Amino acid sequence: MPNDAAHVAPAATGAGTDPVTVIGLGAMGRALAGAFVDRGHPTTVWNRSPGKSDELASRGATVARTIAEAVHASPLTVVCVVDDAASRELLDPVGDKLAGRAVVNLSSDTPERARSAAAWATSHDVAYLDGAILVPTPVIGTPDAVILLSGPQHVFDAHRPTLQTLAGNLHYLGPDPGAAALHDLAMLDIFYTTMAGILHALALVQTDGVAPTRFVPFAGQIVEILPPIIDTLAAAVETDQHPGELDRLQMEVTGIEHIIDSSRARGLDVSVLDAVRALGDRAIAAGHGDDSFSSIVGALRKLSSRNEESTT
Ligand SMILES: NC(=O)c1ccc[n+]([C@@H]2O[C@H](COP(=O)([O-])OP(=O)(O)OC[C@H]3O[C@@H](n4cnc5c(N)ncnc54)[C@H](OP(=O)(O)O)[C@@H]3O)[C@@H](O)[C@H]2O)c1
Repeated sequence: MPNDAAHVAPAATGAGTDPVTVIGLGAMGRALAGAFVDRGHPTTVWNRSPGKSDELASRGATVARTIAEAVHASPLTVVCVVDDAASRELLDPVGDKLAGRAVVNLSSDTPERARSAAAWATSHDVAYLDGAILVPTPVIGTPDAVILLSGPQHVFDAHRPTLQTLAGNLHYLGPDPGAAALHDLAMLDIFYTTMAGILHALALVQTDGVAPTRFVPFAGQIVEILPPIIDTLAAAVETDQHPGELDRLQMEVTGIEHIIDSSRARGLDVSVLDAVRALGDRAIAAGHGDDSFSSIVGALRKLSSRNEESTT
């Protein structure tokens, strides 16, 4: 987590007394509501489609008949639906009922849509935090659960004890309501690109008859070297300094070509590696062949400027 983020230790024990409403009873919404119920919070639940609240009701949750009744029941409403468009569709008609109350929106979406939702909330006099959940449903309500939150500090402070019921690792990322979504997307950026690399490597060894499970220790070794490399890359990106004394981009692109050649020869898709090589080629063309691998960040930034130009 960023150094300036407030990391809040778990309130893993003790009963909650503050009433809370949970809107959205998909897999995650049910887990959130269940954690509140288990910790003793008077919990009201509502979902667009019926039939998802039965188990929660049997555990003590109150099932509201309408969304208006649901938001009226508690000073804090936690929303967890598929995305911000769905949450806006639900909250817009009850904006007046929410005035003077708080909403914590844990639906995943983009920073831009989180900021737009926060502006909607401000215009309706709703205290608003945007959040992102970084763990699967069984982890909710445990010390290992991670939730990022952003929005006004006073709203976070007021509802922190209730929200700690959900996650031992509650990270407040500051007043920009888009910050939680931004960090969520950046972490998922690492997750999905890494997963694609791992799957490609497993498919590669398999083509020569090596069982993917036998490759696991080797995959683990390469993944283990990454944490200190993240520190080095972050410093390089922050300072825009990419000295190539220890690793030259030209050398690394040659190595990537070896993986591409071997993969092609085995009939494997190389689109992910081709994309990495293309970034390397552009950085080399811009004069970074003797700089470190981190210098491809310039090519990433240039692509982003090109995208901006093409959309304006
Ligand atoms: N599940 C996870 O492991 C996990 C982990 C991290 C983050 N999250 C995030 O948590 C959020 C909810 O995920 P989930 O797993 O609970 O999803 P889910 O099981 O697919 O449930 C989706 C929820 O959104 C509601 N919904 C969808 N479209 C709607 C609309 N147009 N209007 C009103 N309600 C609508 C659904 O209501 P109906 O029942 O009426 O369709 C349901 O309550 C997502 O943003 C997801 O990214 C989930």
